Amino acid sequence: MKSIFILTGAGISAESGIQTFRGSDGLWEGHRLEDVASPGGFHRDPTMVYSFYNVRRAKIRDAIPNAAHSALARLERDFPGTVTLVTQNIDDLHERAGSRQVVHMHGEAMKARCLKCQAISLCETTLDETNRCPACGTVGTLRPHIVWFGEIPLFLEEIDHALTQADLFVAIGTSGVVYPAAGFAELAARHGIRTIEINPASTEISPHFDEHLRGPATEKVPAWVDGILSATSV
Ligand code: OAD
Repeated sequence: MKSIFILTGAGISAESGIQTFRGSDGLWEGHRLEDVASPGGFHRDPTMVYSFYNVRRAKIRDAIPNAAHSALARLERDFPGTVTLVTQNIDDLHERAGSRQVVHMHGEAMKARCLKCQAISLCETTLDETNRCPACGTVGTLRPHIVWFGEIPLFLEEIDHALTQADLFVAIGTSGVVYPAAGFAELAARHGIRTIEINPASTEISPHFDEHLRGPATEKVPAWVDGILSATSV
């Protein structure tokens, strides 16, 4: 095996204390997803949306990467072939665990994007109407660098290329309801790529996987990485 493609979702950060999206009440930290994660919601009430992400940014800063994030960093470092790590998560726990190449297809909480010049800048604390874009100098044009509902995810061409070239597709902690990521398992299966799902629960996309590792990410991911690395070591 030469190439592994990994897709992570909110479940990998759950044991670091970051809430997943789809609780049974359909709310995300007390908010409707459409209000805090759509261009329309931002247009209607930018102050609320800025403040929602300021709180999330602070929670992410306080969170600590867990054993699953660390195991994936170890895999990137020690696997003799290619490891592509694509995440739907906006947190930076993969990077803080040591992963060096992380494709954030839904954007990043710790970055802002200028609506005027499109420049992306670091934003590790608070963001609101008073911030100035460090690239063009305009005040009030920065928004969270996050892909909201109705917007197109990032890096789709690179992702498609890496996925279709892979020998193994592994999805960790994702419910498989938000496209295009939800379609990756089916695409991989159509290309004859072996597929593994790591999740304590079954999901909408479970039927597309060859193998299911049922359990929390902190338990299943390190064990799976150990198995891969011992199979490839000489
Ligand atoms: P969800 O909240 O939809 O799903 C989280 C998944 O993680 C579920 O399938 C859980 O069973 C699983 N899970 C929970 N605890 C776990 C654990 N300890 N270990 C492993 N898995 C666990 O999150 P996503 O699928 O990531 O998009 O959501 C996809 C997208 O929907 C997000 O990226 C976000 C949201 O709208 C944007 O913000 C654009």
